Amino acid sequence: MRPLIIAANWKMNTTPADAGELAAIIAARTEEPGVTRVICPPYVCLAAVRDALAGTNVAVGAQNVHHELAGAYTGEISAAALAGLATWVILGHSERRRDAMESDELIGKKLARAISSGLRPILCVGELLAERESGRAVEVVANQLRGALAGKDVEALINGGFVIAYEPVWAIGTGRTASSADAAAMAEAIRSTLAEDLGWGKSAELVPVLYGGSVTSANIGEFLAEHSIDGGLVGGASLKPDEMAGMVARAAITAMARAAAEGKPV
Ligand code: PGA
Repeated sequence: MRPLIIAANWKMNTTPADAGELAAIIAARTEEPGVTRVICPPYVCLAAVRDALAGTNVAVGAQNVHHELAGAYTGEISAAALAGLATWVILGHSERRRDAMESDELIGKKLARAISSGLRPILCVGELLAERESGRAVEVVANQLRGALAGKDVEALINGGFVIAYEPVWAIGTGRTASSADAAAMAEAIRSTLAEDLGWGKSAELVPVLYGGSVTSANIGEFLAEHSIDGGLVGGASLKPDEMAGMVARAAITAMARAAAEGKPV
């Protein structure tokens, strides 16, 4: 059974002065069984958020990591620097693909570094609006997956808790979402790309696929009703405790229902 995950991507919001308090409030309001919670603040807020979340089981994630271990990379952050601060990392977010020109090949190197450093990666993939409208969404996402994952050690990725987030670029921060049917079809296409094109076989079924793009407490239920979707990567709404409480509560209901369907305890 795959875990249900609600991951908060705070992007370039919060400061070291206020991030800890917000994280603590969210942790206290989302104590539902069966849901893996992750908060990904800006780098400089990681220590405050880690301290605020000590004693909870909410994980801390970074929003990026450099692929090299150390060296002359001004402004970059290594995996070693994240040790003790974060246990998860978001990789290949569309805002980094767009603003920092991150390629699939580079994202693949970051992924290998994350895994070898014990950081649990969330690999983001997703198509542009023009690509969806021209019927190429699945092809674009499959190419992103092939570019980042070709030649990777499948067992290491699975053991490292590898997660994929499908985030259609046109749905991020726009208030517009993919339909749950389209998101579910993409989640299935993602797993079949892993299984068939990349030769992962049955291991593809073990990879959680999240949906991201204007997720809120009001719409997350539609996505979680799809068996192929295992949670959300949430931007704007993840800064609001009421929204986080609503989303995690909804995910907890799904966790219970899925566990019951498989005859397992939550
Ligand atoms: P959004 O962002 O929820 O604000 O659309 C999601 C993301 O970019 O991860």
